[in-house]
Amino acid sequence: MNKHVAPYSLLFLFAIAVASCKTQSPITSTTVNVNQSQGVYQYRDEDPTVKPFFSDRAGVTGRNGMVASAHPEASEVGLAILKAGGNAVDAAVAVQFALAVVYPGAGNIGGGGFMVYRDNGGKAYTLDYREKAPGHATPNMYLDSLGNVRPGLSISGHLASGVPGSVDGMAEAHKRFGKLTWAQVLQPAVDLAGKGFALTERDAVGLNRIKPDLNTINPGKAYFLKSVMSTDTTTWHKGELLVQADLAKTLQRIQTQGRAGFYEGETARLLSEEMVRGKGMITEEDLKNYHSVWRDPLQAKYKEYNVITMPPTSSGGVALLQMMRFTESYPLRRWGWNRDSTVQVMIEAERRVYADRAKFLGDPDFVKVPVTQLINPDYLRTRWTDFSWAKATDSRAVKGGMIPGYESLETTHFSVVDKEGNAVSITTTLNGGYGSRVVVGGAGFFMNNEMDDFSVKPGAPNMYGLIGNQANAIAPNKRMLSSMTPTILEKDGKLFMVVGTPGGSTIMTSVYQTILNVIEHGMTMQQSVNALKFHHQWLPDKTIFENGAFSDVSINALKNRGYILEKLSNTLGRMDCVLIRADGSYEGASDPRADNTARGY
Ligand code: DON
Repeated sequence: MNKHVAPYSLLFLFAIAVASCKTQSPITSTTVNVNQSQGVYQYRDEDPTVKPFFSDRAGVTGRNGMVASAHPEASEVGLAILKAGGNAVDAAVAVQFALAVVYPGAGNIGGGGFMVYRDNGGKAYTLDYREKAPGHATPNMYLDSLGNVRPGLSISGHLASGVPGSVDGMAEAHKRFGKLTWAQVLQPAVDLAGKGFALTERDAVGLNRIKPDLNTINPGKAYFLKSVMSTDTTTWHKGELLVQADLAKTLQRIQTQGRAGFYEGETARLLSEEMVRGKGMITEEDLKNYHSVWRDPLQAKYKEYNVITMPPTSSGGVALLQMMRFTESYPLRRWGWNRDSTVQVMIEAERRVYADRAKFLGDPDFVKVPVTQLINPDYLRTRWTDFSWAKATDSRAVKGGMIPGYESLETTHFSVVDKEGNAVSITTTLNGGYGSRVVVGGAGFFMNNEMDDFSVKPGAPNMYGLIGNQANAIAPNKRMLSSMTPTILEKDGKLFMVVGTPGGSTIMTSVYQTILNVIEHGMTMQQSVNALKFHHQWLPDKTIFENGAFSDVSINALKNRGYILEKLSNTLGRMDCVLIRADGSYEGASDPRADNTARGY
């Protein structure tokens, strides 16, 4: 399972694509909108209804190190660790713990995540520190006696949490690859929690928004409130200091005792007592038994690039490679960014990929996931036979594919590259914003609501509308399927790009577009992050898009072929990426849609 995957050629798809373009391509214009000679993409479509970019933010340049994360304080911490002689893993560990303090909506010690690491010698590793179902979890734990889903139970409150993996993951990563001491990489987070940090506008708005839940789910606790009084009308403002004394003590226990400072002793006791108080399930035994897993990275060729990405328990890597391979042979560059033909083949790829996800993907320690077959070109070709330029494929007619012999909106991403060219790509999460909203009494951190990422009932959509089946059913100690897609690309054997984003079910399609924007459309890393995005996930059968992502011409062309398009009032993705330019310098690109910040030197 999850072996390094031999590169395949997609010549057969190329043949199909060429034949289709020649005879049936509905391209509405031949505008070539890439200016490769300058290395900077210029949108040349005369249609003024397209605004390709969310903002004109510029990338950050460095030659010695780069950190891009969701919060300025965390990126600053990563940069300081690099400057102090730490490597990319030291910086990543420090950033993960710093985010747990300054970005409580998604940064965490009460959640989990995935790390893709490529050392400067080109060796790649992936670490799965995804949460696990508690030992007493059952397949029907969120269903009533009639078999109906009990609304909200897997999303909010104590029963929604899986056993956290982040602290074990960081301890593992640091033990294997860290250069500085564990105490050194923990110190910035301890300081930020104990001394406090100044809230950004977005931090303040987030905490004010969840105040009702803080009061109802955590009665009598003062965490993240300016006052414990439930009548309190005090709101947080930008610039005010958030001090987290109990969290500082928890982090100090982790700092002095390593993983035992979380999974055993005082912190484990506080967490299991919290679970008893709120009728949750996680026990001290569950905590003691939690271990992250090193898995073989999923790797495959795309043109002259090698894509290194996360195998299951995330579905993200498989999905990314399937999407890239479905569209590899089409002349996306010639058609142009977000032109109707480009979008059409990408949507059709996405539709088929999410259907496969629902059928086949789950925890590889529990179910056989046919990874190699799913990205095999022969298999993908069978999935493409019902593609038609004339008409959108009907999602109801698309089921997961047939594989012979087969039996059976808050997360955060950060990217780090150090002076030596070691690179880390981490996506980590509590699942929903502020997770289950349960704060562990005495320990001061939010718990995840990752149990909702299981298929709580076959065919019932989760909070991202994702549908699952037996492969992702709940079982004791099993990991819930994820969409997180931390990814690293090589070009000509050298480090090329570090990429990832939060966004629930939209993660893999945002990563897909961000990669293609650079390697097919000639954008800089920052332009690619700034570029407006779209998303289709099989069911519901519609394409959502950021306002301005498509021209009216493209919208009409797609609608005429039966595509249902829905303009979003909000945004897609919060990318944090690094590109290695031809001259060897680093371009750090952070998403202008939120507080994301790149810092380099
Ligand atoms: O693992 C997953 O796929 C989800 N728990 C990720 C959640 C997420 O990205 C929310 N962020 N916006």
